[in-house]
Amino acid sequence: MNILVIGGGGREHAIVWSLAKSSRVQKLYCAPGNAGIAQLAECVPIGVMAFDELVRFAKDKAIDLVVVGPDDPLAAGIVDAFEAAGIPAFGPNKAAAEIEGSKIFMKHLLRKYDIPTARYETFDDYETALAYLRKQQPPIVVKADGLAAGKGVTVARTMEEAEEALRGMMIDRVFGASGTRVVIEEYLEGQEMSILSFVDGMAVRPMVPAQDHKPVFDGDRGPNTGGMGTYTPLPHIDPAVIEEAVERIIKPTAAAMVKEGRPFRGVLFAGLMVTKDGPKVIEFNARMGDPETQVVLPRLRSDLLDIILAAMDGKLDQAAIEWSDDAAVCVILASEGYPGSYPKGIPIEGIDKAEAAGALVFHAGTALKDGGFVTNGGRVLGVVGRGRDIEEARNRAYEACGLIRFEGMHYRKDIAAKALAAKNG
Ligand code: AMP
Ligand code: GLY
Repeated sequence: MNILVIGGGGREHAIVWSLAKSSRVQKLYCAPGNAGIAQLAECVPIGVMAFDELVRFAKDKAIDLVVVGPDDPLAAGIVDAFEAAGIPAFGPNKAAAEIEGSKIFMKHLLRKYDIPTARYETFDDYETALAYLRKQQPPIVVKADGLAAGKGVTVARTMEEAEEALRGMMIDRVFGASGTRVVIEEYLEGQEMSILSFVDGMAVRPMVPAQDHKPVFDGDRGPNTGGMGTYTPLPHIDPAVIEEAVERIIKPTAAAMVKEGRPFRGVLFAGLMVTKDGPKVIEFNARMGDPETQVVLPRLRSDLLDIILAAMDGKLDQAAIEWSDDAAVCVILASEGYPGSYPKGIPIEGIDKAEAAGALVFHAGTALKDGGFVTNGGRVLGVVGRGRDIEEARNRAYEACGLIRFEGMHYRKDIAAKALAAKNG
């Protein structure tokens, strides 16, 4: 089969890497891809939002299946665009992608179907929102309704911080139209976990759980990023809680989407907080996570393409999906200044050494220049170590990170430390 993957980050490198192992894949393309992806697929310089051009390319190359990585094109209806042209695309259509594209839609859905999530109210008027906010006790969470590149959420420790966030979203419009409406919600305390599931309408097949690290610095300090590192499994979380999340949250959400006339087909990503009252929803994403994908797919024993094709056929419930018992830890190597502004085009050394040491190196933001890799994004590489347990995987990931260097490179030194602390404490 000829396959086109949409996107150009670490998640898409991991998806392409996984698909490339399938015997049924004849030719792999990626738009726009990156320098790492180019080792496995033919990269085509078309942006993820250029739907007409992407559809023309897909027709031209007789693409049998499109796999969409990022949220923006899904929210804008890329799957509908391919389907209108008769090209199968794996991912939710525009109506189903709203579960990520509008936090208000998502919260109302969960309320309507009695699915556990933080208590909340929604607002489209600043004065009303402010009056409500002032009656709450911090910590309190303020969220822009729409997509904001992962930055539309403020977990405010003080009332000043909460008011500032609200003003930023609704008056100063720092997230543009995404902040026209806001959600103000209860702060949830506990351990976070991400469960990604293959979903085809009613059928839900959860992947192995993972945990992300959003803040840029060790100890969860500093501003939020797209994700600085992940690990799987989560040995400190009771398997019964994971089971409860699937039965009480993810399956009912898929069923709710069907009832609402927006059946979800693709990967549904549940961001959950394990509270003392059980797991609750923080967010849903309509796609695979980045960098969750980089640790989850290396544990997939089955053929990713077979699973996707089963989902496209409505036969996901029958698909054989097996996972290895290994652990995987991904450490993101970031550019100087990230998540703020950062330079590009800095030469990267040592990727080959890290790979020779057994690590998987997924490229997030790289390009080729004069035959060598250079930085081309805020998150540059995701270095994945694998092992029998988190400790071994983590040691291998950090050893490999030590073999890679570029000017200004920084990374968190405490990825997966929470799992180890829970185990040892
Ligand atoms: P999001 O962009 O929705 O993933 O939110 C970013 C981060 O904010 C999450 O990963 C959580 O760490 C935190 N967060 C969001 N909502 C809540 C909440 N209700 N309670 C506590 N933390 C939250
Ligand atoms: N790692 C979080 C996300 O992909 O949204």
